[in-house]
Amino acid sequence: MTALSKVYGDVFSLFAGPTLMVVLNGYKVVRDALSNHPEVFSDRPDIPAIAIMTKRKGIVFAPYGPVWRKQRKFCHTTLRNFGLGKLSLEPCILQGLDTIKSQLLQERGAGGVDLAPLISTAVSNVICSMALGQRFHHDDQEFRTLLNLMSRGLEICVNSPAVLINVFPLLYYLPFGVFRELRQVERDITVFLKRIIQTHRKSLDPGNPRDLVDMYLLEMLAQQAAGEPDTSFTEDYLFYIIGDLFIAGTDTTTNSVLWILLYMVLYPNIQEQVQKEIDATIGRHRSPSMTDKGSLPLTEAMIMEVQRLTVVVPLAIPHMTSMDTEFCGYNIPKGTVIIPNLWSVHRDPTVWDEPDRFNPARFLDSEGKLLRKEYFIPFGIGRRVCMGEQLAKMELFLMVTSLLQTFTFSLPEGLAPPSLQGRFGLTLAPSPFTACVNPRSSR
Ligand code: HEM
Repeated sequence: MTALSKVYGDVFSLFAGPTLMVVLNGYKVVRDALSNHPEVFSDRPDIPAIAIMTKRKGIVFAPYGPVWRKQRKFCHTTLRNFGLGKLSLEPCILQGLDTIKSQLLQERGAGGVDLAPLISTAVSNVICSMALGQRFHHDDQEFRTLLNLMSRGLEICVNSPAVLINVFPLLYYLPFGVFRELRQVERDITVFLKRIIQTHRKSLDPGNPRDLVDMYLLEMLAQQAAGEPDTSFTEDYLFYIIGDLFIAGTDTTTNSVLWILLYMVLYPNIQEQVQKEIDATIGRHRSPSMTDKGSLPLTEAMIMEVQRLTVVVPLAIPHMTSMDTEFCGYNIPKGTVIIPNLWSVHRDPTVWDEPDRFNPARFLDSEGKLLRKEYFIPFGIGRRVCMGEQLAKMELFLMVTSLLQTFTFSLPEGLAPPSLQGRFGLTLAPSPFTACVNPRSSR
């Protein structure tokens, strides 16, 4: 799409079947639409394959309007109460890292380790703690099954013949192949999440809410007691909210951490410089804390540069116009699907010097201090900006710092360097790779 924009301009349209889509490219246009005209560009389209499964409830795919606003606000505030953006969340993130580290020590060998399962467990456990009040062990069969079901479900929706459901919705009900598998995946996830909600309902203590599910159940009861007639706070809605938090919060963060480690394997000199900075600021014994962030500009610049180049949600989540509008000289009708091409923003040569080059120093000034750039938008911008941005930033910083403090990651001997191409699903994941994990001496 970025290549097409070079031919057709920063705003161009195409049809996906009968659906008109407008692709927005480059920083200026994306910002103008999402930040300056939020009332027009913040709706979500009704994508049949997704609508069948989400019923357009939850947050991510909910239509722009008062229900979405209330649900998003409630979840954001509740997650903040449970530590989002605060130091109290650190132990929860670091606990998962201790498990990863001991696992890495056990599994390391000359052939290298596949880091993906360990990282994804640690990441999803953070959401599990905040939303469900429980953590799962890496080997927990039920938990592994849930994670596998979620990624399989996404893969089927985005990367299989099941995408045809978007053109012929009745295909969803076909009794064979990926269509049948998709329905089974959906049923299995439903059983898992409904059971968790039920357990919470039975043990709910209004004076001591343990997690987001408890808070939600209490809000539901409060609204019922107040006789709120059109409340959207229902157990059914809660189910979709939990699903959203998992789907939005697991793959995105896991893939970001994996991309960062992959770049460290491929750029050992940058890895060494980052480790030197960590050694000088934190040393090798104390766990990293968010309070160290300001003293680790290179580490942060490296994380941002990998996020810039890899853009794990490259086309954001589709938006939709909620009214007819004139934009950049074009008439765009109500109901048009809008694709904000975040990838093109991060490779926009009018705002980035040598955009294809990996160069963490672009985020540092001449004194080595961190430079914030408004055109760095891996979490999107505007009203639909990622709700988990603060949480994701904490996770990325603490996980990456802690892992590089303890280990050096390198390419297994004799293996060709892994590709930087990525695999496109709902998020852009690195192609599977293994890395040698060498413990650093504890000085
Ligand atoms: C590095 C990790 C992450 C990245 C790069 C990322 C990126 C994004 C992007 C690009 C969007 C779409 C913005 C748009 O539609 O314009 C989004 C939406 C969203 N993200 Fe994230 N995200 C990350 C982690 C998380 C986490 C950990 C959570 C969990 C709390 C989360 C929750 C959400 C939600 C709920 C939405 C939908 C917001 C809405 O429609 O109102 N994300 N994210």
